[in-house]
Amino acid sequence: MKIVSIVGARPQFIKCAPLSRELRKNHQEVLVHTGQHYDPEMSGIFFRELQIPKPDYHLDVGSGSHGKQTGLILARVEEVLEREQPDMMLVYGDTNSTLAGALAAAKMHILVGHVEAGLRSFDQSMPEEINRVLTDHISELLFCPTETAVRNLAHEGITGGVHPVGDVMVDALHFNRGVASDKSRILERLELEEKAYLVVTVHRPANTDNRANLESIIGALGEAGCPVIFPLHPRTRKYLSDYAMLDVLPVNIVVIEPLGYLDMLRLMDGAEKILTDSGGIQKEAYLLGVPCITLRENTEWVETVEDGWNVLVGANRGKIVEAIREFAPAGSQREVFGTVGASGRIVAVLDSKGNSVH
Ligand code: UD1
Repeated sequence: MKIVSIVGARPQFIKCAPLSRELRKNHQEVLVHTGQHYDPEMSGIFFRELQIPKPDYHLDVGSGSHGKQTGLILARVEEVLEREQPDMMLVYGDTNSTLAGALAAAKMHILVGHVEAGLRSFDQSMPEEINRVLTDHISELLFCPTETAVRNLAHEGITGGVHPVGDVMVDALHFNRGVASDKSRILERLELEEKAYLVVTVHRPANTDNRANLESIIGALGEAGCPVIFPLHPRTRKYLSDYAMLDVLPVNIVVIEPLGYLDMLRLMDGAEKILTDSGGIQKEAYLLGVPCITLRENTEWVETVEDGWNVLVGANRGKIVEAIREFAPAGSQREVFGTVGASGRIVAVLDSKGNSVH
């Protein structure tokens, strides 16, 4: 089959790397980068490190309001589809690139496959939740990372085309954990000792665009009593700067530029705990066996909380400080994201679909 894959934001580059490798064994992939993320450290470095093929199309949509970003992607993907006439499209995750890509294809009656289908936070104030729900309802193949995701879809009446394949991020981590540990010098560069520091990432609008929340998080991090490494997402840098907080951060907070995948993996692997509002990082923390403190009131990755390795604290200063001091899961973990090989399992589904298309 000829398959158009849509990527545009950092977590999608990570997810497409293992799947693209598998896909190209049997199928023709046309890779489209929407340009939602464009800074070299948010985009180019992932293509190099993860050896993702050069995109066939770069749509250069850049930043903008949700409507503008989504609309530009929709219009530009449509042109690509008219030209390429693919058999199907693959979209990843829950970003504006995901929804716009899926919508362009569905309107042209092109089969859509959604990788990471069925996730729900049940929080409509998150743009990602809207993107997820709508994308799932216009996709014909739904590749679910967890059993919870399968159940979420069933609750919405979606039972056909649902494939519980496990999580492609397990593949990405499996391929790269050893490489990261061999190649990355991030601990040396930052003069860190194994398990004697925290890592934090913050980029959700609920935390960045809300000054009180960001102040509360930063205040809590200041009480950590150890180095807190903070790779700054461009959105967060902008707001910290707007709020005049960037130059007066507590001294134990070490702000650095966004990291590539290998350095980030190594940094997380060596951390005592991770604090984050990212979905992907909650999962990676779990897979690495590092306790995760989630700076949100809800999560799509409920299994990590049920298993005792993730705790939801929102932006509440007291709860964050308490979790930094007290949260110490020790039990063993289940394989909630499936075993290695989700990429291969997805391609097996596509192979059988291809046989019925041709
Ligand atoms: C997006 C996704 C989110 C995902 C995240 C990963 C949506 C709605 N959100 O959020 O699901 O978890 O990516 O990072 O699609 N910017 C730059 N350089 C870049 C990219 C962004 O400076 O390379 C700045 C721009 O000012 C932009 C802002 O960051 O307005 C936010 O970028 P955007 O793509 O809108 O959303 P994210 O917050 O990154």
